[in-house]
Order: sequence, then structure tokens, then C-alpha cells
Amino acid sequence: MQHIGVLTSGGDAPGMNAAIRAVVRAAEYYNVKVTGIRSGYQGMIDGDFQPMTARSVSDIIHHGGTILQTARCEAFRESAGRDIARRNLEAAGIEGVVVIGGDGSYRGAHKLYEEQGIPTIGVPGTIDNDIGGTDYTIGFFTAINTAVEAIDRIRDTAASHDRIFFVEVMGRSSGYIAIISGIAGGAEEILVPESPTDFDKLIGTLRKARDSHKHSMIILVAEGDEAGGATAIAQRVARDSEFTDTRVSVIGHIQRGGAPSAMDRVIASRMGVASVQALLQGEGGMMVGIDHHSIELRPLSDAWETHSRFDPALLDIAKILSI
Ligand code: ADP
Ligand code: F6P
Repeated sequence: MQHIGVLTSGGDAPGMNAAIRAVVRAAEYYNVKVTGIRSGYQGMIDGDFQPMTARSVSDIIHHGGTILQTARCEAFRESAGRDIARRNLEAAGIEGVVVIGGDGSYRGAHKLYEEQGIPTIGVPGTIDNDIGGTDYTIGFFTAINTAVEAIDRIRDTAASHDRIFFVEVMGRSSGYIAIISGIAGGAEEILVPESPTDFDKLIGTLRKARDSHKHSMIILVAEGDEAGGATAIAQRVARDSEFTDTRVSVIGHIQRGGAPSAMDRVIASRMGVASVQALLQGEGGMMVGIDHHSIELRPLSDAWETHSRFDPALLDIAKILSI
């Protein structure tokens, strides 16, 4: 293989730039030409390509976001869109593609390989850490650090006023950010989409905390909780109990930005290099993951077939420690 492409797709995540840098520099190291495909699969369909060299990725390892930009592209879901994408890749001489993104992006990469015959390698980039086949995704460590910093600040003001806060973190279909940042932030309760929210139990927790003279209570809510986000849950608690004067804080997209943590930079660097090596070894339709500290290659389908890492034992730990 003489020429590869790289793109970022789906939601951006801190550390994607470190992964782009690793792909571009590894390609140059192995004397392979590398082209950046802008705005995910949209750029593949539009032929929005830019040649890249080791110097085009200088000074980006410490920046959040993605210099290639990212997009959600409906046309790529149809085979007609993917036909156009394949023709553009062929016209540019791009023989294989590294796709940095979440499991949706991997489904696209899988089709590009199976249907269009273009070798693809996935690199997991999403703050949610909800992809199977890897212990960690790029962006997760930074996002939880940001969430915990926010929770700590909220704790200061909550304790000063004897207040209850409902704090919402990201995670449309996964509660992993909520569980990990909730344990790290000492949350009194953690509500996630993977486990049904029991309002009687929640109100009981609030009463118990109040009766044990806690000065603050933080209920951490994953945005995708089936009972609603933090605002809806606070309203229901106010309707059903004496806890009518609470506060809501939605951390939101702050979790997606900022300088990537050292850990995110390192896993992005390792995965980026491994993705180029995999393409050069003739692999396609595979993803790079980290399994017990080692880089592993697995089928892209592992990403969506094995993606739940919900562990009720972690919620038990939060419960035990919140007395
Ligand atoms: P993420 O990669 O973060 O999970 P999305 O689910 O939004 O993000 O997917 C990103 C893009 O991947 C979509 O906009 C679309 O272009 C492509 N994609 C997602 N699912 C499919 C699919 N089933 N078939 C083809 N392409 C897909
Ligand atoms: O998948 C990453 C993520 O940040 C989710 O946690 C969140 O639900 C979603 O993306 C938000 O997407 P958007 O930025 O398109 O609103």
C-alpha cells in the first residue's frame, strides 16, 4: 500500500488530533503517502481531500477538537453515497483509510470495506467509552477529568448552602461517564440509562442524607437516563417530595473540548501508529483497541456487538461510599 487516507467522524473527542498526528507521522515513517479527508464521510463524498505531511501535524497533540473537522453524513448511510466515496478515493489513489470515530463511524467503515472493497481500520474516538473491543476510547479520560472538576466546583457551592444539585453529564446511551465521574466526585446517587430510575429510592436517599446532616448532595445524571435528563428528574422529585428547592447544572459540551489528558494522548498515539501498521500488513475491516494495556486488532463489528460495559458493582461502590 502506497497511499492512505485518514478522517475523523461522529462526535469529536479530545485526543483525536493526537491520533491524526500519529497516523500521518507513522505513514511518513513507513514511506506511505497520506491524505486527510475533511469532515468525515462527507468529505469522502465531496472529494474534500488535503495532502498531509509530518509538518502539517506539528503542534496539535495538545489541542482538543479535530483539525480535519468532523460531521455526521446521512448520504453515506446509502450505498449510492458510498459508491461516490469509493470512486473519489480511487481517483485520488487512496488505497486504505483510517477512520477515527465511534461505533456509528465504524458501521460506515465496515460497509466501505465489505461492500466497496476499500480496506479500513477503525480507531476508537468518543468521550463515551461505549465501544466494544477496547478498554478505553480516545477522549474518555479527558472528559471524566473535566466532569470531575465541574462536580468539585459544584460541591463547594452546594455545601455552602446546604443544597441538593442534580448534575447532568454526557452519555446519550451510555452511563459510563456518569458512573466514573460520580465515584470520583463522591456523588450521593448516580442515574444511568442502563438501570431504571426508582424515584422512591432516590427520594429515600435524599432523606437519609439530609437526616445524617450532609451539607450537600449531588445526584449525577447521565443525559440519556430513561427517566429524563437532570431537569426532568429534579422536577419529578419536587413534585413527589419535600425537596422542592434544588438546583440543576448541565455540564454539556464543555466535556468534549479542552487539552487532551496525557493518557488520551498516549492511547491516541499508540492506536494511530497501530492502525497504519495494520493497513500495511494487509488488514481491513478491523479496529484497533486496547485490551489489558496491549494493542489488539479485532473485527469492526465487535464495536457494536459487545458494546455494553455497564457494571452494577460500580454503582454499589458509589452507594457504599455515599453514606
Ligand atoms: P459515532 O461515530 O460518534 O457513533 P454517528 O453514529 O453519528 O457517530 O456516526 C457517524 C457517521 O457514520 C454517520 O453520520 C454516518 O455518516 C456514518 N454511519 C453511521 N451509521 C452508519 C451505517 N449504518 N451505515 C453507513 N454509515 C453509517
Ligand atoms: O457521543 C459523544 C456525545 O458527546 C454523547 O455523549 C452526546 O450524547 C452526543 O455526543 C452529543 O452529540 P451532539 O454534539 O451532536 O449534540
